[in-house]
Amino acid sequence: MTEESSANFSGVGVTRRTVLGTGAGVAVATILPMQPAIAQDTPSLKETGRTLSVSTTVNGRDIVLEIDSRASLLDLLRERVGLTGTKKGCDHGQCGACTVHLDGQAVVSCLTLAAKVDGRHVMTIEGLADEVSLHPMQTAFIDCDALQCGYCTPGQIMSAVACVRHGHATDRTSIRQFMSGNICRCGAYAGIVAAIEGVAANSRKG
Ligand code: FES
Ligand code: FES
Repeated sequence: MTEESSANFSGVGVTRRTVLGTGAGVAVATILPMQPAIAQDTPSLKETGRTLSVSTTVNGRDIVLEIDSRASLLDLLRERVGLTGTKKGCDHGQCGACTVHLDGQAVVSCLTLAAKVDGRHVMTIEGLADEVSLHPMQTAFIDCDALQCGYCTPGQIMSAVACVRHGHATDRTSIRQFMSGNICRCGAYAGIVAAIEGVAANSRKG
């Protein structure tokens, strides 16, 4: 059979070139972004009354911002404050990559409205270490090889700190239960649990 020979599907003469050509067309159509509809006379956010002012503390720094009232804390941190250590994984509260502390409690920032942090304290992975040394949990993650690609790691560490702080690191089962909302696609779970166990043991000694 030659390159151009016909593969007659259901009585329709179709050549290999036809099939490849059609497939490529579909692929290109899939890749090319949809042309955005031309927005005419779209009111600004201010005009729609959808903005509000938020005054919060992020990693000890006071911040006042005019925000879209529908914005998530995750987008506020990454896109407005420039703190990109907090990762966007699923953006649906399913993976824990975006975990931060809000008034000391671990929360998924993708499901937390930025408007809700007004007058409150946010801590991200960037605020955990002090000027001279890493937080003990960060050191333990390194020592226990508790990461591979590192994408989930900021969220894992923020949850791990909360796990120890709130007394949930009493044994491996409790640790796993508390950390169950933090997914690691690299499967570094053994190291993560070991890191938390180590920090918890040291905090009991100290
Ligand atoms: S990005 Fe927030 S839980 Fe996945
Ligand atoms: S280290 Fe890769 S997803 Fe957890």
